[in-house]
Amino acid sequence: MSENQIITKLTMRRPDDWHVHLRDGEMLVAVGPMTARQFGRAIVMPNLRPPVTTAADAVAYQARIQKAVPSDLNFTPLMTLYLTDKTDPDDLERGFKAGQIVAAKLYPAGATTNSDHGVTHITKISNVLERMESLGMPLLVHGEVTDQNIDIFDREHVFIEQVMKPTLQNFPALKVVFEHITTSAAVNFVRSQGPRVGATITVHHLQINRSDIFKGGIHPHLYCLPIAKREEHRLALREAATSGEAQFFLGTDTAPHGVDAKETACGCAGIFSAPTALELYAQVFDEEKALDKFEAFASLNGPKFYGLPINDDTVTLVREDWTAPATTEVGAGQAVKNYRGGETLNWRLQDL
Ligand code: NCD
Ligand code: ZN
Repeated sequence: MSENQIITKLTMRRPDDWHVHLRDGEMLVAVGPMTARQFGRAIVMPNLRPPVTTAADAVAYQARIQKAVPSDLNFTPLMTLYLTDKTDPDDLERGFKAGQIVAAKLYPAGATTNSDHGVTHITKISNVLERMESLGMPLLVHGEVTDQNIDIFDREHVFIEQVMKPTLQNFPALKVVFEHITTSAAVNFVRSQGPRVGATITVHHLQINRSDIFKGGIHPHLYCLPIAKREEHRLALREAATSGEAQFFLGTDTAPHGVDAKETACGCAGIFSAPTALELYAQVFDEEKALDKFEAFASLNGPKFYGLPINDDTVTLVREDWTAPATTEVGAGQAVKNYRGGETLNWRLQDL
């Protein structure tokens, strides 16, 4: 194809979302179908209240997700456990071997929404990490230190030094996903570790930098954790995502909170990108002239890392201007602001 020929239609293997918050109850009913419409599978985060800490919790939560999502969408929620100082390695092993859980999530205590039950110190879960290493079960890491004395923009970088490096050294065969990376330091670090370390990249971290949060006033709907960083970091993330390299894959970290919980004196962290995630990623790859690398990032690299087959079916995106819906209604009278909602998007996902 000649370089200036414009691609107007893109068909590729159905992507998966390797990091999503589907919540529970009314919120799950509202947002679950949106992820299921776009993706074949999703790694479902376990930070409910109370969190999903046992295989039995994960099985019950998976059933609630399946009930909330139309069965004709053929969506498979992949379940995770929330690690705590008390995680039982035998329960984790049984759940993994039975296919009930595929990974476990490390939230340093206090890192983000509902993470009060997280791990107080990585040494407290050595027995669990040893077991995961021997099982080949991926550890998913929220890579930020929680020390309030560390500047919020430095917490990922410091986590690499204080936690990531020693953990990977102590468990030399442990598979790790560095979730929602936000810095060039994380990109370089992931690359330096080879195939047993992967990283998810959100679409918002490919699109916004920290100045966008404060452009003309404070934008609570652009506040998430890890917080967006300087422009140079956004550019490093775009380069990594569009490189096609196997270690980087799609994970939206879509994290809905009601408008009331965002637009308040102490607003929650989380950006809700589920309604148009694929369209927005397509726009980024298009802008980077890397649409030929989009399928690797969205549909191939993740399954390869997790040792799962790629999806059989395909999705088609068409180049078309349309206005994304501004909000998502949740039950009676509650709404969530859609990331980039109300704006004109240039790509559109075709429904089956
Ligand atoms: C997530 C949430 O709301 O559950 N928030 C966020 O800003 N990403 C928690 C998380 O995964 O960090
Ligand atoms: Zn998350």
